[in-house]
Amino acid sequence: MTIATTTPATEAALHTMLEDVVAGLSQDQKTLPSKYFYDERGSKLFDDICELDEYYVTRTESALMQAEVGDIASVIGPNALIVEYGSGSSLKTRLLLKNLIRPAGYVPIDISGDYLSQVGHSLQAEFPHIEVMPVVADFTKSFDVPTPSKAEARRVIYFPGSTIGNFQRDDAKDLLAGMAVNAGDDGGVLIGVDLDKNRDVLRAAYNDSKGVTAEFNLNVLKRINSELGGEFILDNFRHEAVFNEGRSCIEMHLISTQSQSVNVCKYSFDFAEGETVLTEYSHKYTIGAFGQMANEVGLDVKNVWTDENNMFAVMYLERA
Ligand code: AVI
Repeated sequence: MTIATTTPATEAALHTMLEDVVAGLSQDQKTLPSKYFYDERGSKLFDDICELDEYYVTRTESALMQAEVGDIASVIGPNALIVEYGSGSSLKTRLLLKNLIRPAGYVPIDISGDYLSQVGHSLQAEFPHIEVMPVVADFTKSFDVPTPSKAEARRVIYFPGSTIGNFQRDDAKDLLAGMAVNAGDDGGVLIGVDLDKNRDVLRAAYNDSKGVTAEFNLNVLKRINSELGGEFILDNFRHEAVFNEGRSCIEMHLISTQSQSVNVCKYSFDFAEGETVLTEYSHKYTIGAFGQMANEVGLDVKNVWTDENNMFAVMYLERA
């Protein structure tokens, strides 16, 4: 198994992180990009979130995949090259790979080379008959999809987890447009979409009673302290997730519990008591609204699989 790499070196990544932090904390509504949740600790906290009673998302999607994977595999058809946006560490990926009909290969795309290499090797060992070709890249930018040794009938982009919901609508649309390009003429997109639902269910999922989501949210400040020499006092911020009706999304915030100034490198940021930092959007779509967005970038909805409570959808999109 060989790994293709296009990501910048660590020093450049730290520089980008500092630029992102300074730009985000300089806005009227302070923001921090949610991608900075995910260092080793953040990824572990996210795994813990997936196990929470209140967080229905992962459980529901996995059960849905379990129930429908046979049908999904026959819709995708034989000899497909699967290109996953993400590392492929989930149970859903294994289920898909196990059920596909003679797949031409599997290409996980992730920004973290070490993690990707670890997951890539274990998948290759588990599926020796599938050519695993990891690519280290930022999938929001353009990247080359490797050609498998076996002829591919079509390319299918796989984007599980409803991570599309963490992108603002315009960015989600751009990402879908990029998927349409990477899938090519006869290709498709298999995507997990968290559906619009009861507000209490949503609020509980993102304000869990054990406080794991709070720790996950605060982890971004912890990272700024350890990686950029920031001076955030974590006890001076608290987590809250609210539902934004206008945008149909959960917004995660870190709320300053007092008036304070915080230094990050040579920069200083003032926080009023009660002022918030917006750290994550998690959009909730109706099937119609998501289909409409897909149509706008030249993708047609071919199939939709949902659970019995209509909590989550796995959708298969094809070039119009
Ligand atoms: C990764 N993503 C789909 C999660 C979500 O539900 O939006 C991230 C998350 N944030 C808080 N809890 C989970």
